[in-house]
Amino acid sequence: MSNERSNQQLFLARVPEGISGPQDFAVREAPIPTLKEGQLLIESHYVGVDAALRLITRDSDEFLFRVRPGDMVRGSIAGRVIESNNPSFRVGEFVNGSLGVQRYAISDGAGLERCDLQLAPLGSWLGGFGVSGLTAYFAIFDACKPQPGQTILINGAAGAVGSMAGQFAKLAGAKVIGITGGPEKCKWLVDELGYDVAIDYRQKDWYQRLVEAAPDRLDFIFDNVGGDILDQSLKLIGMNGIVLMCGSTSQYTAEDMKGPANYIWLGTMRARIQGFVVFDYAHRYGEARKRMAKWIASGELKLPEHAEKGDVGDFGAVFEKLYRGANRGKMLLKLPAAGS
Ligand SMILES: NC(=O)c1ccc[n+]([C@@H]2O[C@H](COP(=O)([O-])OP(=O)(O)OC[C@H]3O[C@@H](n4cnc5c(N)ncnc54)[C@H](OP(=O)(O)O)[C@@H]3O)[C@@H](O)[C@H]2O)c1
Repeated sequence: MSNERSNQQLFLARVPEGISGPQDFAVREAPIPTLKEGQLLIESHYVGVDAALRLITRDSDEFLFRVRPGDMVRGSIAGRVIESNNPSFRVGEFVNGSLGVQRYAISDGAGLERCDLQLAPLGSWLGGFGVSGLTAYFAIFDACKPQPGQTILINGAAGAVGSMAGQFAKLAGAKVIGITGGPEKCKWLVDELGYDVAIDYRQKDWYQRLVEAAPDRLDFIFDNVGGDILDQSLKLIGMNGIVLMCGSTSQYTAEDMKGPANYIWLGTMRARIQGFVVFDYAHRYGEARKRMAKWIASGELKLPEHAEKGDVGDFGAVFEKLYRGANRGKMLLKLPAAGS
């Protein structure tokens, strides 16, 4: 079948400097080719706006993959199958996958996930019910395993991963301390997500507040941001503690990345820094979602998200907002096909 619709695809225009924004991206119009046997066409409703994109657009090889100037921007989309030459996918089904930032995507079905909207709304399949939530789930229940009476510190606490990690740690019975930017986000963490304490890192006395909140030191530091926030917190790591290295958002924008100076406390406290990548758990996503669906149904788990309406060309502006901390939960770009 031929298509009169034309596609909009987002490309990286240049290597970003500092906080990335519209200046780093370019939209190209492209025809939608006729589907071959086995292919399907997906109309994108949501694009996931991930902090990690800033890491993989750096002019260096710190992560598993890279996006170079001239490449289509990597990203996950969730949308509806609108044409199908693939017997496994029917027109009208909702799917998500890492198909790049574009309005329409052609797929052969490999790596696509079907989205059951009875379990979670479509956008959440890119956020709390998607990779962000799964990252938090396995980092908490498999890598950290907090017990009642233990204390966990989560930085980047109001973000896509952090907002889920805090809820999971509460479900595990731990005392949960969150660090984020601004008093509104702190209030939201405590009032809406059940964090025990939330600390605004933009306040000068934030470290003192952390010392007061953790009189028995920290059994876990769930690190999303790295930098000075991690460095100061390391002074409070507890005996046999785990510093779960989930991400280093503050360093992704830095020309020269900086490691922690207070690592010496790891030795004194017999603690360790542990790397973590969610893709190692891909074979267990179904198991995690089963438990999550129960908690969602019982009202014990929320799927926070912040959707900005726009088109593919608005991605850069939304990405900049993410780095300025505008989001509570997962930042999404909601495309016109998703409706109002
Ligand atoms: N290991 C894995 O498998 C895995 C999987 C997914 C994501 N990640 C990582 O997890 C981290 C969080 O990702 P996400 O998608 O959930 O992003 P996110 O936390 O939703 O968004 C980024 C947040 O970072 C904060 N931030 C920005 N610049 C900062 C700075 N200089 N210092 C401190 N905080 C800053 C902002 O919130 P504030 O208002 O609080 O500043 C912003 O809202 C990222 O580092 C990502 O790479 C890892």
